[in-house]
Amino acid sequence: MEAVIEVHDLVKEYIITKKESGLRGSLKSLLFPQKTIVNGVDGISFSIGKGEIVGYIGPNGAGKSTTIKMLTGILHPTSGSIKVCGISPQADRKSVVRKLGVVFGQRTQLYWDLRLGESFELLRRIYQIDLAAYEETLAILRDVLKLDEFMDTPVRQLSLGQRMRGDLAAAMLHAPSVLFLDEPTIGLDADAKHAIRNFIKEINRTRGVTVILTTHDLDDVEQLCNRLVVVNHGKIVEDGPIDTIIHKLAPYRLLVVELKQPCEDLVHPAATIIKQDGLKIWYQFEKKRISAAELISDLSQKLPIQDLSVKEPDIEDAIREVYKTTSAV
Ligand SMILES: Nc1ncnc2c1ncn2[C@@H]1O[C@H](COP(=O)(O)OP(=O)(O)OP(=O)(O)O)[C@@H](O)[C@H]1O
Ligand SMILES: [Mg+2]
Repeated sequence: MEAVIEVHDLVKEYIITKKESGLRGSLKSLLFPQKTIVNGVDGISFSIGKGEIVGYIGPNGAGKSTTIKMLTGILHPTSGSIKVCGISPQADRKSVVRKLGVVFGQRTQLYWDLRLGESFELLRRIYQIDLAAYEETLAILRDVLKLDEFMDTPVRQLSLGQRMRGDLAAAMLHAPSVLFLDEPTIGLDADAKHAIRNFIKEINRTRGVTVILTTHDLDDVEQLCNRLVVVNHGKIVEDGPIDTIIHKLAPYRLLVVELKQPCEDLVHPAATIIKQDGLKIWYQFEKKRISAAELISDLSQKLPIQDLSVKEPDIEDAIREVYKTTSAV
């Protein structure tokens, strides 16, 4: 498979300068401030092929955003090498920027005071996108991301989900071959998440766009990614097919059932009751063994169910737990 991204032994050290302030700040600490080094990324290597959708996951502070910032040329690595479409973002940022789109879920590259459509037009001029190609791409984006209803709305008035759809379109206007998404579904409701996942699948399928995605949302990775790269403390701790890794990190789900009245026979052969509190019962089940729908269907045939919910495991807690002894700090 053709490699679109190649990263070798990448390191990013942040140097934090501590200054004592106020009355306690001595002349010595002012002249010689204390420096501490934080390893944002600590020796990472991977290669990503054309058309892959890779989930880059890990707990808070693991080094995900730092990696993406280096891959997109925003940050300079302390050491190591990066090639995106054969080009080093450090040596030739301009050429790399043409090949990639970036969305940071917590920030926007749209212009608050402009209408969404005007924002796109301004980006077209900034990136010198050919008008015919721009119009063709925009027509597709308007359709897939359903932008028409708010193309004339000022960006500052867009809802979070609309703004994110606008940001995804902005990142795709110059038809990049690689898309970096840093938490693209953060804070969104179920409908907006659904629209964004569909969009990612669609551009990957129809345009062969390679996608690298960081997320804290297990549904995102399960619905989108075929491969996961897991980072912890700046190092890669897993890199492989999603099924294997999810099974290792989070094999179980919980089904919480609330009954209308007490019942005798609560057992199910594929699930374990791990807790019971009055009419509420917690069933733990292995996803590989039985689906949530199947378990719910079986139980509702024999139990009078008032309410139920399926609880997803917290993937970051699982990563911390599984790798706590092997991680380098
Ligand atoms: N500008 C900075 N200056 C100093 N330290 C930083 C800076 N940016 C990140 N760090 C540190 O580097 C480490 C990795 O941070 P990074 O933002 O890459 O993590 P992350 O995996 O994106 O986390 P999150 O899930 O919270 O977004 C953390 O320890 C963080 O505190
Ligand atoms: Mg981050």
